[in-house]
Amino acid sequence: MDIRIATIRDTDAVRAVHLDAFPEGEGAPVAKLAADLLEEKTTPETLSLVAESDGAIVGHVAFSPVFVEGIDDFNGYILAPLGVKASSQKGGVGRALIEYGMRRLSEKGVEVVFVYGDPDYYGRFGFNAEAASVYNAPYPLQYPFGWQAAVLDEPTPCDSPVTIACVESLSDPGLW
Ligand SMILES: CC(C)(COP(=O)(O)OP(=O)(O)OC[C@H]1O[C@@H](n2cnc3c(N)ncnc32)[C@H](O)[C@@H]1OP(=O)(O)O)[C@@H](O)C(=O)NCCC(=O)NCCS
Repeated sequence: MDIRIATIRDTDAVRAVHLDAFPEGEGAPVAKLAADLLEEKTTPETLSLVAESDGAIVGHVAFSPVFVEGIDDFNGYILAPLGVKASSQKGGVGRALIEYGMRRLSEKGVEVVFVYGDPDYYGRFGFNAEAASVYNAPYPLQYPFGWQAAVLDEPTPCDSPVTIACVESLSDPGLW
């Protein structure tokens, strides 16, 4: 299996991954988010990765930047979405995508990475609720226990809770 940076040419395959990975009804908005993030120009750049096995794309993850008003040097990202084709799940593809992405972000000096998802899964990769506790998600959360962060480097300290802002593709309360 190989991990590489995704490009706009991968859009159809990336959409197909999420439509296959998520239960019916949940896949369409996630596939749209993944495709939107491939097109969105952000500063700093959004990192979209695909996992390829035997020439076919079997997994995808995106990491997009997040911002905190008043802290100009805040260097944070959010992991969303992540999906692995059903036939390739539980084979280490998700782990490979997350670890590759986190390594690249760490090399770029990113301090903190957020995720909104299953703590049983993301806890394996250093994400936890405590690290996210001083950061409010941009929208009210349907499952607040899923709000987590992984600290890669000591972030600029926040005395009181701050609310993060995300890129346009993720700025939809329905995704939260
Ligand atoms: C969740 C998902 C991305 C995991 O990808 P994957 O390639 O199957 O995961 P991996 O094989 O890399 O698993 C890594 C570890 O997590 C475990 N794991 C896999 N799925 C898990 C789950 N849903 N909950 C808890 N642990 C899980 C594996 O057993 C493995 O454990 P190990 O390292 O001790 O062997 C994939 O199952 C998927 O696409 N699911 C549907 C979409 C989804 O839920 N996306 C995440 C949204 S928050």
